[in-house]
Amino acid sequence: MSKRTIVTLPGDGIGKAVLDETLRVLDAAGFEANYVEGDIGWEFWKSEGNPLPQRTIDLIAKHKIALFGAITSKPKDEAFDELSPELKEKGLIYSSPIVGLRQHFNLEICARPCKTYKGNPLNFIRRGKENEIEEPLVDVVIFRQNTEGLYGGVEWTNPDNNVYEAFMSHPRFKKNFGKVPKEEISISTRIFSKERTENILRAAFDYAKKYGYKSVTLAEKPNVIRETSGMMYKMALKIQAEDYPNIELWNTNIDAQMMWLTKNPENYGVLVAGNMFGDIVSDGFAGLIGGLGFACSAQWSKDGTAVFEPTHGSAPKYADYEISIVNPMAMVESACMMLDFIDEKEKAAKIRKAVADVIEEGKVKTYDMMKMRGKPDVIKNGAASTKQMADAIITKL
Ligand code: NAI
Ligand code: MG
Repeated sequence: MSKRTIVTLPGDGIGKAVLDETLRVLDAAGFEANYVEGDIGWEFWKSEGNPLPQRTIDLIAKHKIALFGAITSKPKDEAFDELSPELKEKGLIYSSPIVGLRQHFNLEICARPCKTYKGNPLNFIRRGKENEIEEPLVDVVIFRQNTEGLYGGVEWTNPDNNVYEAFMSHPRFKKNFGKVPKEEISISTRIFSKERTENILRAAFDYAKKYGYKSVTLAEKPNVIRETSGMMYKMALKIQAEDYPNIELWNTNIDAQMMWLTKNPENYGVLVAGNMFGDIVSDGFAGLIGGLGFACSAQWSKDGTAVFEPTHGSAPKYADYEISIVNPMAMVESACMMLDFIDEKEKAAKIRKAVADVIEEGKVKTYDMMKMRGKPDVIKNGAASTKQMADAIITKL
């Protein structure tokens, strides 16, 4: 059988370190692939005025599966300042290449599992009835709509007249903002489409059914955001009633959900939400299982294009350390999601078991697992480097 080709997208900062170590882990698990590297990120914005060059889009279009590290994004003005001088006159506007990838390939389904590893010193604990310490087992998968909603990019400051007039035709806008000078108004829209809303809901219910979760929780705010959250809730009710009668649908408000997740996280199974609320609630749950060093994600389109990435960013302050100190687990876990996706489930299970063994044994820990502040001297103080952590996983394999 010919080897599969995987596009690697190291990006910026710590993206490269965690991706390099993850490829070694994949190798040690016996996963054979050809890797081709795609250019993405800040360097390409500075030098070419495009953080997501067409050649990278072509590579992903060809090979369909990509492993992505992280990128650096900066606000509009800073982005402009760092552009190479000959590009400054061109009127280029920076936009995040990862958001660009999601939209270009319609990677509309994003899944973010948050599962407790036994023995992780960062696990969430709470007090029980008798004042005893409880360590609830979190086993949650968040399904986040990945392409529209508040991150859809339809926004204005000082909108054009036609846009402004359209908004003024809405009585609430007229009443609340009609007297505010147009130049002082910024608008970011939250647009939900029926088809994509249905797709994310069904992805969540399908997953719950396939893996035996008893509930799907919609974490939105339908009582206040009546149109978008309201539509999503109505659709969820209908889909559940018609096609998933054995899975319970729970409806929580996103704000209350953020409170509940520290009270009874073990009660939740699959969660589903729009783009921004999905982002928020998945970071919330990630905090219970070890934080950004452990939070992984997969995103895919209906036609099978998929990008796997840790949820963390490029952590620029650690990028230039001579010895990388960041935790590669989130990237390794993301690669396991890739293996599941391409039907290499046994290798994924093997790697997850090795990760679980390393954590439970507790001998090798990165600085975050030792609750240290990230500084170069953490290694001297007993923390494992990125490479040492990968080595520990490889030894278990
Ligand atoms: P970040 O996730 O890069 O880092 C925040 C903090 O989390 C770090 O300072 C570190 O303490 C911790 N951390 C992150 N990854 C870790 C790891 N693997 N092991 C141990 N600790 C880890 O988020 P921040 O600082 O808000 O953003 C930095 C840059 O990354 C920005 O330019 C931002 O736009 C970008 N970003 C990119 C994302 C992506 O590529 N998908 C996602 C989030 C942010
Ligand atoms: Mg996020």
